[in-house]
Amino acid sequence: MRRRSPTSSLPDHMEKGAVKNQQSRLCLLASLSAFFWFLLFYFHFVFLGGSTVDDSLQLKSISINTESINTPPTSSRPSNAQALPINSSMTTSRPTSTAQPGNAQSPPINRPMANIDRKSDNYPFMRALRTIENKSDPCGGRYIYVHDLPPRFNEDMLKECRSLSLWTNMCKFTSNAGLGPPLENVEGIFGAYNISMRDAASLDLVNWLAKRPEWSIMGGKDHFLVAGRITWDFRRLSDEESDWGNKLLFLPEAKNMSMLVVESSPWNANDFGIPYPTYFHPAKDADVFVWQDRMRKLERKWLFSFAGAPRPGNLKSIRGQIIDQCKNSKVGKLLECDFGESKCHSPSSIMQMFQSSHFCLQPQGDSYTRRSAFDSMLAGCIPVFFHPGSAYTQYTWHLPRNYSKYSVFIPEDDIRKRNVSIEQRLSQISPEQVKIMREEVISLIPRLIYADPRSKLETLKDAFDVAVQAVIDKVTKLRRDIIEGHTDEKFH
Ligand SMILES: *[C@@H]1O[C@H](CO)[C@@H](O)[C@H](O)[C@H]1NC(C)=O
Ligand SMILES: *[C@@H]1O[C@H](CO)[C@@H](O)[C@H](O)[C@H]1NC(C)=O
Ligand SMILES: *[C@@H]1O[C@H](CO)[C@@H](O)[C@H](O)[C@H]1NC(C)=O
Ligand SMILES: *[C@@H]1O[C@H](CO)[C@@H](O)[C@H](O)[C@H]1NC(C)=O
Ligand SMILES: *[C@@H]1O[C@H](CO)[C@@H](O)[C@H](O)[C@H]1NC(C)=O
Ligand SMILES: *[C@@H]1O[C@H](CO)[C@@H](O)[C@H](O)[C@H]1NC(C)=O
Repeated sequence: MRRRSPTSSLPDHMEKGAVKNQQSRLCLLASLSAFFWFLLFYFHFVFLGGSTVDDSLQLKSISINTESINTPPTSSRPSNAQALPINSSMTTSRPTSTAQPGNAQSPPINRPMANIDRKSDNYPFMRALRTIENKSDPCGGRYIYVHDLPPRFNEDMLKECRSLSLWTNMCKFTSNAGLGPPLENVEGIFGAYNISMRDAASLDLVNWLAKRPEWSIMGGKDHFLVAGRITWDFRRLSDEESDWGNKLLFLPEAKNMSMLVVESSPWNANDFGIPYPTYFHPAKDADVFVWQDRMRKLERKWLFSFAGAPRPGNLKSIRGQIIDQCKNSKVGKLLECDFGESKCHSPSSIMQMFQSSHFCLQPQGDSYTRRSAFDSMLAGCIPVFFHPGSAYTQYTWHLPRNYSKYSVFIPEDDIRKRNVSIEQRLSQISPEQVKIMREEVISLIPRLIYADPRSKLETLKDAFDVAVQAVIDKVTKLRRDIIEGHTDEKFH
């Protein structure tokens, strides 16, 4: 597994992908492909059945789908819905009766268009952009086109589930089983194959995409792509065989697209962090409210807890100290994830521990982020981060900019060099403050979860809604910048 060494430059990137609170509803004309949803569930099962609770997760599924925003329907494509790839029956079309007329035209960037109409008639995306101003269309400005990708980019990959991962037979995760068979040592597309094999699908995909008429409208800059992995899997640094992953995100076409991944790169502007899927996939608002209420009322007997394994091979890792502190504290609880089976692999023991803790420790592992951070927030447990790359610079679309509201930050060096007591640090926070923070965490739950795609939440926005809206806003802003002449790369 490749990872970059932490650097102090991370906090400078906190602004990447500014948070936008978009109130209006998402309307997806052709809606999103079933495969996209499947992807999310696919991650879910992957993570659920992962061989350790947190860190081996990233080594698993690979699946990709791409979408482009607001491509206007053309005569060659009578209806977007017909262009949907696998099956659109699982997707949600969300024109809404409750959307206020005003909402439909108020994506965050509200600049007058009238004065630029004349000179901008030539842009191929004008038709899409103008739908924002159509007051009788509640979906105006939020149409999404889903490419009908050849099956070799999605379905076939799933059929090859046995060989996708070097360590694990993925097939079980695409079934409903959820419990894992023993590891199998088969060849995998991220590590074992030679680099030309590993890059083949990426090159094939971008070549295919770049030939689509939809691509030419904005050179792919209105395209986004989702992958249930960390960004480093797609950013192989060299063509050395021993180097990890493929080089998808270094391809010129991919640099024009937005890539949504569970861990993004702080040094690149075109990938964006989205929450790891957790165990909870509600079908309606009420399910969420009931859950939130339960989390509010739980009795939490531990001040703090940690679920994870040490990193004895990594001298910079603070996990050893964190585990010691848990062991030596009367108010700390540890779920140690060693080799082989342990409670750590059981969703219920993890969630039970988080649900009985006020604070949940989230040190980095093999990469900056952990799925565990989202499990803990789902459990109403306030996350404690030790590196800004573990959440603050990652999930800027989904988490509040002011991280003190929902989390505690203890710099790694406080643990590593200054032997700071986590127990002491956390007990200094007053019970009232803890309660306020927990309420903030619980209020974030809806936007951090992925709802059951077979139904829809009536009013709540889930992680998917938030991500899609953020991409739409980004593309809309880019189009307006182009019209107004700000074609500078930094506006991208
Ligand atoms: C697509 O959905 C229809 C029902 O809406 C179903 O009958 C059909 O089997 C589905 N096809 C695939 C490939 O899943
Ligand atoms: C505005 O939206 C309505 C409803 O979707 C549609 O019937 C109408 O053609 C649109 N008007 C324009 C000018 O696109
Ligand atoms: C990579 O592996 C494939 C399949 O094993 C093989 O056909 C190809 O020649 C190899 N390429 C290089 C550059 O070694
Ligand atoms: C990327 O977008 C720019 C326009 O911003 C375009 O000129 C370029 O051709 C695009 N690259 C590819 C590979 O399509
Ligand atoms: C961030 O939130 C904390 C806790 O609610 C608050 O004390 C602080 O003033 C906030 N900072 C900013 C810049 O809003
Ligand atoms: C760190 O602090 C604990 C008590 O808080 C102490 O038992 C331990 O020896 C200290 N470790 C080091 C390396 O100073």
